[in-house]
Amino acid sequence: MPAAPFSPNRLLQGDALAVLKTLPDDFADVGVTSPPYNKREKQKGWLVKNVVYAGAGDNIPEPQYRQNQTAVLDEAFRVVKPGGSFFYNHKIRWQSGEMFHPMDWLRKTKWTVRQEIVWDRAIAANIRGWRFWQVDERIYWLHKPGGEGQKELASKHAKLTSVWRARPENKNPHPAPFPLWLPARAIASVMDGAPSGLILDPYIGSGTTAVAAKLLGLDYLGIDKSADYLSFAAARIKNAESEREKINEELALHIVRKTFRERKLFGENTGKFRTSRKAAALLR
Ligand SMILES: C[S@@+](CC[C@H](N)C(=O)[O-])C[C@H]1O[C@@H](n2cnc3c(N)ncnc32)[C@H](O)[C@@H]1O
Repeated sequence: MPAAPFSPNRLLQGDALAVLKTLPDDFADVGVTSPPYNKREKQKGWLVKNVVYAGAGDNIPEPQYRQNQTAVLDEAFRVVKPGGSFFYNHKIRWQSGEMFHPMDWLRKTKWTVRQEIVWDRAIAANIRGWRFWQVDERIYWLHKPGGEGQKELASKHAKLTSVWRARPENKNPHPAPFPLWLPARAIASVMDGAPSGLILDPYIGSGTTAVAAKLLGLDYLGIDKSADYLSFAAARIKNAESEREKINEELALHIVRKTFRERKLFGENTGKFRTSRKAAALLR
């Protein structure tokens, strides 16, 4: 077992699995990450630039990829505190017509899969006609049993629904960043204004998770294989205040005027949730 304590607010360069193994047990409150997807690089659709990482290939045999992801997730499980959460962004892929679903390996990890969230990105990465254009990715909310158990989300977070609609980031030089609202939504929902906490991202790339954590007043710990991405991330984290507006826009969505209990108390509509066009537009 690695020795504690380990100081937060650091970016560590190296292989995610190897570096995670050096971290103490029950150390982080929440994890958020998007790993390399093993896209096998050559199989991109036309009209789409190849997503190629500076310091790592993304083309290994699928069984080896799944074995590695399972090991990384299990190591992250050890590092996250009991009762903690991990948000794992991935997507459904196909190879020679066979569908690969992230649940194929998530069920083999130590995590309890708490929810599958659909991220509707509204644009397709591949517009060949072998399938209906894939505009969605997935975010798996994973839970580590223990601690105080699964806590209920406050209504202001839960009402953001299991479909997160927003376009991907396009002003970031990293080849595959997620948008700042994504880790911010995950972290703000489960941390719910807690004054302190540590957020882990084992594939931190351009530092998006760390920027979200910092702007939410929390600590971070990030890992990436690429020294270049980490130096970009370090500069971005230093300059995090310049992205405050994006966090404010996200937090402005986390409100309820009346809770379900209050509506019930005043005899108001407690019926089904509907995403009206107007509400959908407000949700971006
Ligand atoms: C999808 S990107 C993450 C992007 C990040 N969420 C952001 O917003 O910038 C995956 C990252 O994993 C890194 N990577 C690839 N293989 C790795 C490994 N074995 N260990 C650690 N990092 C790795 C890549 O350099 C890349 O930055």
